[in-house]
Amino acid sequence: MELNKILIADDDLLVRDAIQKILEIFGYQVVAVNNGQEAINAIDESFATIVLDINMPVMDGFQTLEALNRQHNTIPVLFLTGAGSMDYAMKAIKLGAYDFLTKPIADLDLFAVKIRQAIEKRMYLLMHKAYQANLEFEVWQKTKELAAKNELLDEYSRKLEENTLNTIATLQIALEEKDPYTAGHTRRVTQYGRMIGEGMGLSELELHTLVCACQIHDVGKLVIDVSCIQRPGPLTDDEWERVSQHPEICQNILQPLQFLGREGIIACQHHERVDGTGYPFRLNGDQLDPLAKILTVADSYDAMTSKRSYKVNKTMEEAIEELYKCAGSQFDPAVVRVFAGLLRSGKQP
Ligand SMILES: [Fe+2]
Repeated sequence: MELNKILIADDDLLVRDAIQKILEIFGYQVVAVNNGQEAINAIDESFATIVLDINMPVMDGFQTLEALNRQHNTIPVLFLTGAGSMDYAMKAIKLGAYDFLTKPIADLDLFAVKIRQAIEKRMYLLMHKAYQANLEFEVWQKTKELAAKNELLDEYSRKLEENTLNTIATLQIALEEKDPYTAGHTRRVTQYGRMIGEGMGLSELELHTLVCACQIHDVGKLVIDVSCIQRPGPLTDDEWERVSQHPEICQNILQPLQFLGREGIIACQHHERVDGTGYPFRLNGDQLDPLAKILTVADSYDAMTSKRSYKVNKTMEEAIEELYKCAGSQFDPAVVRVFAGLLRSGKQP
């Protein structure tokens, strides 16, 4: 924008014409008006400077300046004052005028310098405003870019976590599928776990954690041979030693994966009992993760109702009875109550 437009308000035609001519000779474009009200009506952002007389009809110079201030005007205002009226000049400066010009104009050089300075001030203010706006825009744009990148990273990290979990679950499922008596165990335990979790009104996050823990709870069996549990009769000390390690091994396998920290703990506790006689750490009900208590019930129910090589599987009602029988010793009674209620109401996992 070229800054050479000046507004001059003065009801004295002789003075106004003289100033207008001088300004035009200097190369400025001049808009001349009769009073403050006309000045207010004519002013817009295209002006570089405003020259105001003090005594004018309708609206005098001071009133005009006050009106401009109310509009948050940033165009420098120069007051025209008669020689010797310094108190007027001071009042104008106090009200926010940029400078004052004495009339009649005796010193043309001084007049030219003051006009130039006012225009430079205007240029500076406009440049500063543009810089601020640009800066704000850049900050806004950078913030937006960062937020988008963060979202991408979050999404990437979520996918990575999901893939890792799926890989572990797939390994566990592959192991189960080798044996017809354990095939489908993880899938069913996950379904029962979700069903109980929903029935107990878990939050979305808790439910997600529970489902993940169900999917990987037996991954420790990848490392040790637990085929002995498929044959009838008691386990030897060696076999028992081996079998009882699988929950802890699961937690060890998951240890490096920080995002599965709680799932590792839950999996490690899935053979604990609320009376504190389970394994591997003989933790009691108060020490157990509430989600582990759900996994234990889901896991045991599936073990009872699915075919094993050495025993006849229980019916739903028989398994529920067994769960109730062990509520308070092996299982959390509240979990048993919710699960039994859901099963009896015909709820399908
Ligand atoms: Fe297990």
